[in-house]
Amino acid sequence: MTDRSEKPETRAVSEGRMSDAHFGAVNTPVYRASTILYPDLAAIKANTQPYTYGRRGTPTTQSFEDAISSLEGAHRTVSVTSGVQAIGLAILSVCSAGDHLLMVDSCYEPTRIFCDRTLRRFGIQTSYYAPSDDIAPHLRPNTKAVFCESPGSLTFEVQDVAAITKAAHAHDNAKGGASVLMDNTWATPLFFQPLKHSVDLSIQAATKYIGGHADVMLGYVSANESHAARLHQLHGDLGLYASGDDCFLGLRGLRTLAVRLARHQQTGLTLARWLQGRPEIARILHPGLESDPGHALWKRDFSGACGLFGVVLRPAPEDAIAAFVDGLQHFGIGYSWGGFESLIVPAHIKRTARAFVAEGPVLRIHAGLEDEGDLIADLEQGLQRLKERS
Ligand SMILES: Cc1ncc(COP(=O)(O)O)c(C=O)c1O
Repeated sequence: MTDRSEKPETRAVSEGRMSDAHFGAVNTPVYRASTILYPDLAAIKANTQPYTYGRRGTPTTQSFEDAISSLEGAHRTVSVTSGVQAIGLAILSVCSAGDHLLMVDSCYEPTRIFCDRTLRRFGIQTSYYAPSDDIAPHLRPNTKAVFCESPGSLTFEVQDVAAITKAAHAHDNAKGGASVLMDNTWATPLFFQPLKHSVDLSIQAATKYIGGHADVMLGYVSANESHAARLHQLHGDLGLYASGDDCFLGLRGLRTLAVRLARHQQTGLTLARWLQGRPEIARILHPGLESDPGHALWKRDFSGACGLFGVVLRPAPEDAIAAFVDGLQHFGIGYSWGGFESLIVPAHIKRTARAFVAEGPVLRIHAGLEDEGDLIADLEQGLQRLKERS
């Protein structure tokens, strides 16, 4: 049992370990199991065996989920095969046909697609609010859930989570209030713990920083006490699970998350500050910068920043941008982020509540674990190519 005063960095290393049950091995091994045997009929009848069937969990999945629950301050965590699956599961665990979901406009695009296509098909209405909005005027009599993602995907606006949870929980939806769900992938539970800020369900694409090595798809949802039973029930009803191999990799990534994130943060801020001073750049979207409109809220709530941020270029021809990006040596062109490698990708921003006005094309950069001097030199040469073709 954890000492509640322990810091997240300590918990990330020490929680979820089961060495005594595994001959002293520090890491819980990968259990690949479908069938799990009972010793006799009395054991089946008693139904107290900790593991019953592969889909319902093994020591490997439990190690991962226990470690995460400790970090998140959660009553229960369930692991699934991706971040997107975690998002869908969390929403469906609180919303039913006829309900309304209030979704932040800066959400990850597949979240929007899930709402507009699948939830709609099942009779759940979604409307969108701008990330900085007071949500009170957006609440409807049938609003069952408010979804936050902070900082937002691609544009990195920081939300006032305290104000959102206050308004949502005060909402008179059959006197139960509206639940608050949050995609916390950017901060990870090391830099922000949603449940400690009155969020009800904390969602994470563990594919990103928790996995940390660009080689695993994994997600989870952590619940407070009042939301744990329904979450667990739906997870079971839908037959969701995450494999032992993937939970092993998630747990292995978690053990080094604090040192990796510190480096991602430092390199991300260095690159962001360097880019901010360049004439080709109109604006940097990074709440860790003092000039960012979300900086005060970020400073109030978060204990750090990861390595992901946005860059608004000054208007430039497409082939000049291609020359910049295509010629980079240390930045791969690819979706996803949170691994050890630096990445760059164009950002296609979709908004329906309020337009996001950018001076020029937007790129998203992930600062990896390479030497920051090498990364700056690479960007400098790239911006030179952009200038020459502009
Ligand atoms: C903010 C955010 N949430 C969720 C996801 C989805 O994670 P996954 O790819 O594991 O489904 C992503 C993926 O890029 C993301 O950026």
